[in-house]
Amino acid sequence: MAETRIPRHIAIIMDGNGRWAKKRLLPRTAGHKVGLDTFVDTVDSCSDMGIEYLTVYAFSAENWNRDPLEVSALMELMSRGIVKYEPEMVRKNIRLKLLGDLDRFEKKYRDALTSVEERLSNNSGMTLCICLSYGGRQELVNAFNRLASQGKTNITEADIEQNLYSAGVPDPDLVIRTSGEYRISNFLLWQSAYSEYYFTDVYWPDFDKAELLKAIESYSKRERRFGR
Ligand code: FPP
Repeated sequence: MAETRIPRHIAIIMDGNGRWAKKRLLPRTAGHKVGLDTFVDTVDSCSDMGIEYLTVYAFSAENWNRDPLEVSALMELMSRGIVKYEPEMVRKNIRLKLLGDLDRFEKKYRDALTSVEERLSNNSGMTLCICLSYGGRQELVNAFNRLASQGKTNITEADIEQNLYSAGVPDPDLVIRTSGEYRISNFLLWQSAYSEYYFTDVYWPDFDKAELLKAIESYSKRERRFGR
């Protein structure tokens, strides 16, 4: 059998926490709690497999429009989760990078998250990018405004890349979306130009290592031509 080709960078739209909970007559936040466990397990698996970059879509710019109670529960859960998981990320030599408009976060959450990011910034193992208050269009507008403020003309692709939140991170090879939705939802619009997509009906809380391996196997079988 041909050897499995491991993607260098996997990006994931973690979707379906709410429906997972609804199916069990539980509150949506119960789905997010189990989703956090799935996130931690996925980071562990990717790091153990030697994946170099993992990017997850944890909170979109549009998610601010949800019920304020759900938003604050998510903020609390994500910041506590990251703080709790820090020692494990230290052991695994994981570098953390936060992508998005963190200025919209309440100061206590922003400080908690950015201080972990800072402490892990010099690690040399897998890079974990967490998209928070993130939108792909917003990221591009932000990059163009930065270039405009520098008086830049004749803008190149490299100029844009260097001004994205993801500057320095290679483009994702594989983008996974769970929960049976077949949309990009404003995720890594620039970066996913040549990515392979993998969609599964499995809700994010149920996306275990076997499901992750299925996605990698599917990617591994595809031939990427980059338009050639
Ligand atoms: C989408 O499901 C999921 C979210 C908006 C939250 C994702 C967050 C986590 C899994 C926690 C991760 C934690 C860290 C620290 C990164 P949904 O609520 O849109 O589900 P639905 O479409 O079924 O309603």
